[in-house]
Amino acid sequence: MKILIIGATGTIGKAVAELLSEKHDIISAGYSDGDVKVDLGNAESIKAMFEQVGEVGAVISTAGLANFAPLAQHSNQDFELALNNKLMGQINLLRIGQEYVTQNGSITLTSGILSRQPMPGSASISMVNGALESFVKAAALELDQLRLNVVAPAFVKETMLMMGMDPSSGISATNTAKVYKIAVNGNMHGETLDVINYL
Ligand SMILES: NC(=O)c1ccc[n+]([C@@H]2O[C@H](COP(=O)([O-])OP(=O)(O)OC[C@H]3O[C@@H](n4cnc5c(N)ncnc54)[C@H](OP(=O)(O)O)[C@@H]3O)[C@@H](O)[C@H]2O)c1
Repeated sequence: MKILIIGATGTIGKAVAELLSEKHDIISAGYSDGDVKVDLGNAESIKAMFEQVGEVGAVISTAGLANFAPLAQHSNQDFELALNNKLMGQINLLRIGQEYVTQNGSITLTSGILSRQPMPGSASISMVNGALESFVKAAALELDQLRLNVVAPAFVKETMLMMGMDPSSGISATNTAKVYKIAVNGNMHGETLDVINYL
């Protein structure tokens, strides 16, 4: 099956692409790198990506930008980035991409554990993660030609290392990728797959 991965060059996306390439043809999409270039924050760019790629069996998004910042310093731009890129960008992947997914295929989006376990500085990230999980639950009620789910990663070890943090409480990108594989191969629809529940 052909699988389009948006964010395939990133920390999580690279591991997802590697795991799924064992059995599937991967088309990687990224902002500055990949088989196809796309700007998740721009619906026209998403349309152009799907026109270029054509029909696929599954779409996975491991992309979505949002900033950490203390609430008092959260700017309009911080909220706009989270809403336009991580939230509406991924919602637009479903709205535009559903025409390009084969019957009984799937679309898997990415939220994050901060929807249910927030921390200081995570206001806009938590906001869009929660919205994505609610959107998927509701939208699935009206989608019978494909399955729609969202994976909620925990803090990834490699990301923690990049941020100079102790990675011992994190989950590796390789283990996180296994949950995307479950979303593609399983029967779930409208669900949030919380990575911490799949270890
Ligand atoms: N890493 C974690 O600990 C963690 C935990 C929970 C949730 N998450 C969520 O998981 C997702 C992926 O995280 P990550 O750490 O793997 O990210 P990452 O390493 O920063 O990779 C981001 C990927 O998205 C692409 N991208 C960036 N801007 C884009 C745009 N405007 N349009 C399309 N693609 C764009 C990048 O492409 P280029 O390289 O070409 O720019 C890259 O492939 C994010 O939604 C993040 O919030 C991550």
